[in-house]
Amino acid sequence: MIVAIDGPAASGKGTVARALAAHFRLPHLDTGLLYRAVGAEVLARGLDFSDVPALTRLAAALKVEGLDAEALRAGAVGEAASRVAAIPEVRQALIELQRAFARQPGGAVLDGRDIGTVIAPEAEVKIFVTATPEARAARRFAELTARGEEVTPQSVLDDILKRDQRDSSRSAAPLVRADDAVLLDNTALDKHESIARALAIAAARTGRQ
Ligand code: CDP
Repeated sequence: MIVAIDGPAASGKGTVARALAAHFRLPHLDTGLLYRAVGAEVLARGLDFSDVPALTRLAAALKVEGLDAEALRAGAVGEAASRVAAIPEVRQALIELQRAFARQPGGAVLDGRDIGTVIAPEAEVKIFVTATPEARAARRFAELTARGEEVTPQSVLDDILKRDQRDSSRSAAPLVRADDAVLLDNTALDKHESIARALAIAAARTGRQ
């Protein structure tokens, strides 16, 4: 069974994806980490974001194992990820490893922006997780300040709105809800309610409790 969880920045899609993976005992891939890993390398090597051949080579060399989720969660890396993710050649270089992960025997849970539309359109369960920009900014603010980053609520909201705009308007695999994805707006839900709703959606789609 393939489970596709998509949604905008800080919508809580990772939380939902991890909970479904644990519940159904499926491997989980946070595909944002792939784009974050490319973005982090661009920053670390001082590469130009317009150097498409170099960025594509970085993407082609990535593996799903050994990504340092903790380091890649830094705010600046998210911004760099969204810039490299708008480059069609970079996306193309990352498609096959995501598809292979999705199609492994037994299935998998993947979260990102284009899982239900491009990576695994055949997924049995598709959930589009979202919340208002303000609710998402409040969550991201709490996350970044807990990491010791110096941010203001306004700067985080500005970043979320900029990322939404870039992710939704790019020509390559823009962030859109798949026609057959169930919408999960968790603006007014806490983490546990959001997970319970996602489990109910998955059960309704698959008959698996
Ligand atoms: O949760 P947040 O959006 O901050 O981060 P993420 O899910 O790790 O994604 C970081 C960036 O990678 C996003 O802004 C997207 O531009 C990009 N991304 C993508 O284009 N496609 C995916 N399947 C996953 C992430």
